[in-house]
Amino acid sequence: MPLEAKQVERLLDAARAAQQRAHAPYSRFFVGAAVLDDAGRIHAGCNVENAAYPLGTCAETVAIGAMIAAGGSRQAVAMLVLGDGETPPCGGCRQRLREFAAPGTPILVADRERVRATFTLEELLPMSFGPEHLVK
Ligand code: THU
Repeated sequence: MPLEAKQVERLLDAARAAQQRAHAPYSRFFVGAAVLDDAGRIHAGCNVENAAYPLGTCAETVAIGAMIAAGGSRQAVAMLVLGDGETPPCGGCRQRLREFAAPGTPILVADRERVRATFTLEELLPMSFGPEHLVK
């Protein structure tokens, strides 16, 4: 089902606000992300870097964690990633989303003003490994 314009606006607003709170003193690359769950709730995240560089966390990972920590639906029906310029989700975050989203789930890549591109999860992560593969 195509995403409604109102939901896109909600995702953009949440990701924009989260981007403002990013902790990115090392890369100076500020990212916000927002996940829409199938109950209509939005969960936002920002990147959280660390002086021990490899321990930094992506915005998408924080947003997915927020959805799980919220304790409601665990089914993501859309994700938006927002940076200054085009910020497609990294490979690790694609896989993290795969745990909680169907292949057709839209992933929106945005800057502070607007959505610049939309992909499905399957387009960004073809032939992916998921929970169903662990069923013996
Ligand atoms: N980053 C994200 O938060 N999401 C992505 O999908 C790409 C990269 C962050 C990680 C790091 O804090 C900074 O952007 C530069 O890589």
